[in-house]
Amino acid sequence: MSDSKEIVLVSGARPNFMKIAPLIRALDRRDRFHARLVHTGQHYDDRMSHRFFRDLGIRPPDTDLGVGSASHAVQTGTVMIHFDDFLDQHAADMVVVVGDVNSTIACALTAVKRGIPVAHVEAGLRSFDRAMPEEVNRILTDSIADLLFTTEPDGGKNLTAEGIPAERIRFIGNVMVDTLLHHVEEAKTIDPPCDLPERFALVTVHRPSNVDAAGDLEEITAVLSTVSEKIPVVFPLHPRTEAKLEEHALRSFLENAPSIRLLPPLGYLAFLRLMLDTTVILTDSGGIQEESTALGVPCITLRENTERPITVSGGTNEVCGRDREKILAVVTDVLEGRGKQGRIPDLWDGAAAERFAEELESFFF
Ligand code: UD1
Repeated sequence: MSDSKEIVLVSGARPNFMKIAPLIRALDRRDRFHARLVHTGQHYDDRMSHRFFRDLGIRPPDTDLGVGSASHAVQTGTVMIHFDDFLDQHAADMVVVVGDVNSTIACALTAVKRGIPVAHVEAGLRSFDRAMPEEVNRILTDSIADLLFTTEPDGGKNLTAEGIPAERIRFIGNVMVDTLLHHVEEAKTIDPPCDLPERFALVTVHRPSNVDAAGDLEEITAVLSTVSEKIPVVFPLHPRTEAKLEEHALRSFLENAPSIRLLPPLGYLAFLRLMLDTTVILTDSGGIQEESTALGVPCITLRENTERPITVSGGTNEVCGRDREKILAVVTDVLEGRGKQGRIPDLWDGAAAERFAEELESFFF
């Protein structure tokens, strides 16, 4: 169709795939858009990447830039160089980036420098902690994007405070929740990835601030060991965490703890199955804080802050850092039936990607 718009969607790392899946579906349903998917290859192995394409039913990327792991500067710069080459060869009326990983800022910056409009999905989230690499990626991406799609009201407030004009901001809700609702029934039908006790705590930890330094990682392992005295712990290991546990000689401590079960990184459906069955989640992931709130499962955030405040003010999330007393108090409350009751935030209803596509139609036509 001659007047259709070429939309390039970018995915790079594990948390991007859940956000991209409903966006591609929504664009593919509309004749006025031709959507092309670029995978930067920031995450590249089956466990961190390809399995998510299969689980989420995402069509194979049109292009894989094959960037791989490296320092922040090298990874970001390499994505930019390869994405620039891609844009030399393919027309683009808009580039859509999601989340806050290095590929997000790299592709947004590349597109803007070429005069291509950029849409950022999951805009406006702020932890106000610039030591987090993702916070820098969020601020920079939002400052250059033409359309900013927010998941919760605080997103819009943060953008306005940074001087972003209101006409660029669209509150559409949470595309990650679209994916969750799309797959929840399917996840109930699959076998869990391991034998599960009746009640268990599900743990994920991978932030550099928790795992990179030996002292921080020791605190985390000590907290998990204490929690496991109250409730068995199931802990799928992110590759960064696995490598750091080995480096700091802490892996055998966890492996030998009687009530801690270590697992490899899981695919989307297997992890969702665990989220559906678990009693409480302990995590430093942003997306899992949101998924916990969407599922009504109590969540303890193992960070000092969150960029997703609606999960605390309206949802099931409690921000505890690595504070053993706080964490144990929440676990005890949950076990004794006093866990935080949340509600589902506005527009976390499974239709965020549809609203995104409608907004894109009004932007272009
Ligand atoms: C990246 C994102 C982070 C996101 C996380 C989810 C940035 C700045 N960080 O952090 O926001 O929450 O992804 O996973 O973009 N590795 C593999 N296989 C892969 C990819 C990585 O084994 O497919 C290993 C490599 O040893 C790599 C390490 O994991 O060095 C860390 O990966 P990297 O992408 O550098 O950072 P993440 O911690 O995953």
